[in-house]
Parts: sequence; structure tokens; C-alpha cells
Amino acid sequence: MKGIKIIGTGMYVPETVAANEDYMKIVDTSDEWITQRTGIKTRHLSDGEPSWYMGAEAGRMAMENAGVSPDDIDLVLCTSVTGDYYTPATANIVQGKLGIEHAFSIDINCACAGFVYALDMARRYIATEDDVNTVLIVSPENITKLVDYTDRSTCVLFGDGAGAAVITAADAPFYSYLMANGYGADKIYAQSIRPGNAFTNREKAERFQELFPQGNEHYMYMAGNEVYKFATTKMPEALQKACEKAGFTPGDLDIIIPHQANYRIIQTAAKNLGLPLEKFYLNIERYGNISSACIPICLHELRGQNRLKPGDKVGLVGFGAGLVFGAAVFEY
Ligand code: COA
Repeated sequence: MKGIKIIGTGMYVPETVAANEDYMKIVDTSDEWITQRTGIKTRHLSDGEPSWYMGAEAGRMAMENAGVSPDDIDLVLCTSVTGDYYTPATANIVQGKLGIEHAFSIDINCACAGFVYALDMARRYIATEDDVNTVLIVSPENITKLVDYTDRSTCVLFGDGAGAAVITAADAPFYSYLMANGYGADKIYAQSIRPGNAFTNREKAERFQELFPQGNEHYMYMAGNEVYKFATTKMPEALQKACEKAGFTPGDLDIIIPHQANYRIIQTAAKNLGLPLEKFYLNIERYGNISSACIPICLHELRGQNRLKPGDKVGLVGFGAGLVFGAAVFEY
């Protein structure tokens, strides 16, 4: 099987940093509650910079880091739930800003599992298309624009930023397992503009209420406890299934990069897998949950710290709105 290798990574986070104490000024919360229940201490918040800008900055860094030029990129994949425009795709804007001329570009909306989905897609294109050899994945998220800052159970969890990676064809094994449980679509959602215009009566708008009865305008609604249970069972399941395909077990992995939603979720997932927490890379304390940007930012940090050695078995695992989940395992 034609495999892939990550040859460059990049990241971008906005300048503004919000600490737990800052949230005490706007909702009834405490540093102690947030730290104990989530593991988060600070997060970066967009100073107004759009998602495409964060994606382009992270993407430029990843291309420099990989030593590739815009002409080397055949495909741009952008994972985000917070594009700046309904159309065009954020991937198209990033492609233009980076001067990538000989490529096609696609947006992927798979929430916090987006980067794992994009890696899988990159591998499939590389494996089946002779004209796709190098792929740029950018994962920018302005997730705090969906956050209701009167809802203490969600507003403390999220931050903004972008991660990126350059992927190329290689003789290196890569296996993934992706799954979606659409019946859980009502567990995390944020509504876009409702349909209807001057000539229609909008009678059928009740369909919105049927499936998604909660929520406040476009702000994110989340059934926190149900998502928590979903995550703690599906993260181990995804990792196990991806490892099965690769012919080893999660215990054989040298390092696991999980989606950074909640320290306790990762702790429970590690316990459910019978693995020490030390195998899992964590930076949630500094960034909070940045949706699909979490995993590529972790990858960039690990590479910067020289913690990934050639031949290391790496596991990535994500879950999120959809509900979606998935894992990828590969040799670094
Ligand atoms: N500060 C203080 N108290 C808070 C609070 C906050 N920021 N947020 C919620 N609480 C309160 C609740 O109101 C509740 O109070 P009550 O008992 O008086 O009703 C209490 O804390 C316990 O709430 P609960 O929801 O049971 O807490 P929890 O331990 O389950 O933690 C989450 C809540 C949201 C942190 C947790 O459920 C979670 O992380 N879920 C998954 C979220 C996730 O991963 N989302 C992203 C998916 S990609």
C-alpha cells in the first residue's frame, strides 16, 4: 500500500490569552472548577483575525518547515467548522493567499476529528491519483465566535488557533479508522442562517425545532455529559480499530495525540485502554479545545521538541460534533 509521511508542520495562535480568572468576571465559575473538571488554565482568543488568515499563517509555516514551495502542493485540504464565508471554501482562500497555483482545494467539516479525516483523505488521494503527491492540510478554528459567553458550561472550554501539516507520498505504513454516529447530531450543534425569503411563508421552519430544540441563535449548544460518555468510549474504540488494521495494539504505540477536549476525558480513555497517561500528549492546559486545530498543533509542538523519532509508532485520535470519531496510526 502506498503510504504517507508528515514532512512539515506549522501553527498559529492569536495574541490574546484568557486565563480562568478572566471568566470569573463574566460567569459564576472559579479557577478551581475549571482546572479540576477540564484541565484548562488558559486559551488564545481571536483578536478578530479570520479563520483563513490563521490557516494561511499556519500553512505557510508548515510549507517552510517541510522545505516545499507553493508549486509542490497538489491538494489543499482545510478542516474547520468556523469558515469565514458560506462560499467560497476556506481552502480556496488559503490556497490563493499562499500562492498555490497548481492544486485543487477542498473544505472538510468533521468538527474536532477533522484533521484525522483530512489525513485519511490525503492518503487516499495520494494512493490512487498519480497527480497528487503532496498535500497541505490547514486546520484553522475561530471556535469562540460560536460560544455563548453567558453559558458557563461551554464558554470556558474553547480557544482559537490553527495547525497545519504537509503530507507527502512515502513508503510508510498509515492506517485509519473513521466513523460517524449521525443520530447524535443533536448533541453538539450551532445553527447557521435559517432558510426563507420575502416570497415564502417559512411554515416549515418548525423542522429546525424537531431535531434541535435547544440552542440560542447561532451559538453552540452542547449536551456536555452525553458527549463526555461518547468520547470516553469512542476514543479507545477508534484507536483499537486503527491499530487492528495495522496489526498491532494501542500498547505498541510510542505516543498518542488525542483531541484536547477535556483532561478527564483523556485520563478515562487511557484507563479504558489500560495505558499509562504518559503515552498521551497533552497541551489542553495552555490552549483549551480548538476543535480540529488541536491535533496538528500537538504534532507541531512534538516535532519542535524533537520528541518524534523515525520509526516511532504514532496514534492520533479525535471525536466531535456529528457525532464523529476516528483514529490514525502511522510510523513517523
Ligand atoms: N464553573 C462552575 N460550575 C460549573 C461550570 C463552570 N464553568 N460549568 C458547569 N458548572 C456546574 C453545573 O452547572 C453543575 O452544577 P449543578 O450541579 O448545580 O447543576 C455542575 O457544575 C456539574 O455539571 P456537569 O455538567 O455535571 O459537570 P461535568 O463534570 O460533567 O463537566 C463538562 C462539564 C462540560 C466540562 C464535561 O461534561 C465535558 O467536558 N463534556 C465533554 C465536552 C466536550 O468534550 N466537548 C467538545 C467535544 S469536541
